[in-house]
Amino acid sequence: MYCVKKMTEDLYWVGGNDRRLALFENVYPIPRGVSYNAYVVLDEKTVLLDTVDHSVSPIFFENLAHVLNGRKLDYLIVNHMEPDHAATIEAVVLRYPEVTLVCNKKTAQMMKNFFSFDVDSRVHLVAEMDTLCTGKHTFAFVMAPMVHWPEVMVTYDVTTKTLFAADAFGTFGALGGNLYADEVNFQTEWLDDARRYYTNIVGKYGTQVQALLKKAATIEIEMICPLHGPVWRKDIGWFIDKYVHWATYTPEEDAVVIAYASVYGNTETAANILAGKLADLGVRNVKVYDVSATHASEIVSECFRASHLVFLSTTYNAGMFVNMENLVHDIVNHNLQNRTIALVENGSWAPTAGGLMRAEFSKLKNCTILDEMVTIKSSLKPDQLTQLDALAEAIVASMPKHEAPVHTPDAPVEQNAMFSLSYGLFVLTARDGAKDNGCIINTVTQLTDTPKRISIAVNKANYTHDMIKKTGVFNVSVLSNDAPFAMFQHYGFQSGRDVDKFAGVQGMARATNGVYYLPYCTNAFISARVTQTIEFETHTLFIADVTEARQLSEVPSMTYAYYFANVKPKPSKLKEQHGWVCKICGYVYEGEDLPADFICPLCKHGAEDFEKV
Ligand code: FEO
Repeated sequence: MYCVKKMTEDLYWVGGNDRRLALFENVYPIPRGVSYNAYVVLDEKTVLLDTVDHSVSPIFFENLAHVLNGRKLDYLIVNHMEPDHAATIEAVVLRYPEVTLVCNKKTAQMMKNFFSFDVDSRVHLVAEMDTLCTGKHTFAFVMAPMVHWPEVMVTYDVTTKTLFAADAFGTFGALGGNLYADEVNFQTEWLDDARRYYTNIVGKYGTQVQALLKKAATIEIEMICPLHGPVWRKDIGWFIDKYVHWATYTPEEDAVVIAYASVYGNTETAANILAGKLADLGVRNVKVYDVSATHASEIVSECFRASHLVFLSTTYNAGMFVNMENLVHDIVNHNLQNRTIALVENGSWAPTAGGLMRAEFSKLKNCTILDEMVTIKSSLKPDQLTQLDALAEAIVASMPKHEAPVHTPDAPVEQNAMFSLSYGLFVLTARDGAKDNGCIINTVTQLTDTPKRISIAVNKANYTHDMIKKTGVFNVSVLSNDAPFAMFQHYGFQSGRDVDKFAGVQGMARATNGVYYLPYCTNAFISARVTQTIEFETHTLFIADVTEARQLSEVPSMTYAYYFANVKPKPSKLKEQHGWVCKICGYVYEGEDLPADFICPLCKHGAEDFEKV
């Protein structure tokens, strides 16, 4: 009996769940099971995106036959050749002999390695950004080498803005009927498994994952369909942010993880004493793991989460204890970076574990290994507690400080505290007769819900300020995360008194009040009529009733913090940039030569409006 999930009008989940498998890839424990996701799109042509592991092939073929409902299978898009997704390709070919296999060159070669059917006669080879139109849908193919194997690609459904992400954004854990991440307690019940999946499966390839994230940042994504675990259709930015942390080896938390290897409990006692001392010094949520009791994959995952790592190992066969050696090599092989590491060694006659751990961890980039290593001879002695104190203090000293301020009558007004306020970013537009103008502001606030009323504070030096004072009418366009830096340059770094900011700009739209709003790189606009003004030294506060408000997209609103972190170019990056920038909207075309017939995908201006950077 089939067990499918209809996701949209023509998209179906046809995968399966395995709750019997003990070890994923025969190494990683999966007590919560795992899902093998495959998807079908029923268009004028029928499309299957990836297949499944052998273990769930019976239900997969029932699902596929049910969804196809007698139709032939036209295309199988193969994003990844690892057998947990590709094991049933040959069986698909046997059952649906007319199918065309859509894949890249490396995938075709791997298919020949794994199978014995005539691959060449069935494949349709694709390369970076090639597209396949199946009727209503157009699929674009984006190469993602080493996320997790060299042949990996992801497929973007341009029509529905759905990213079929291969292993990326996957997680351990079988699906419990809820297909979507927003239908489960992802943060509390799935995140640890998602991190363990990522760090152990693709953690080594952070650079390649960063490359994929960079490509993903240039497209609008409504839904992410991974090959394992829940599908993402909400809070996608939150999960991408986790991936950014993991791929850049940035700790998610200022936290301490202690891993110890102990044979008779003496090293374990030292670990517990150190953990207690850290707690006494104010460190919260210290995590302690016995490397013989906790699988290395869990500790590796914890090491990707925490900023500070402590390893205590007894000496065994003149080296590290066997499970600790395995863990240390695992961490080094996964390319962990940007951590502070503390060491404790034990040895009854010739302690060597500390030096060996230091030698291994020295291979990691940008890691600080604290000098205060403690050496135990068989068991910790009371006079060594000061050494553990020194180690605990050194760990705490290397953690960021959040000291409570001292309150005095002459308390300062720290500018940095003002920077902690969160703001959105907006293009404020106004119209005075035939003259249009706009500027960037960050001060739009909703005051009341009934009636809908907002306030804006506008610098008196702005030409837009004078226009609003005169006309009492304005629009606010809410900038979204896809707005480029040049848009800020265009509306924020020049005055409407000197230039006509809308001269030659195509694709602008006027709201019912006749004032322009920005229909691209924004997610909403709000029209308002001023009811009250309050004058300050440098700014006027306009209080206004909302007369029209429309949502334009679901791309998240850009915050001031996002602008500084992701949009405003870093000085070094400016020097590195090569390509062509659209003078109208700031879209960047990467490449030496701009095609003469190139059209800006954002503002639709032609190549003549691009300049080289
Ligand atoms: Fe889920 Fe790399 O396979």
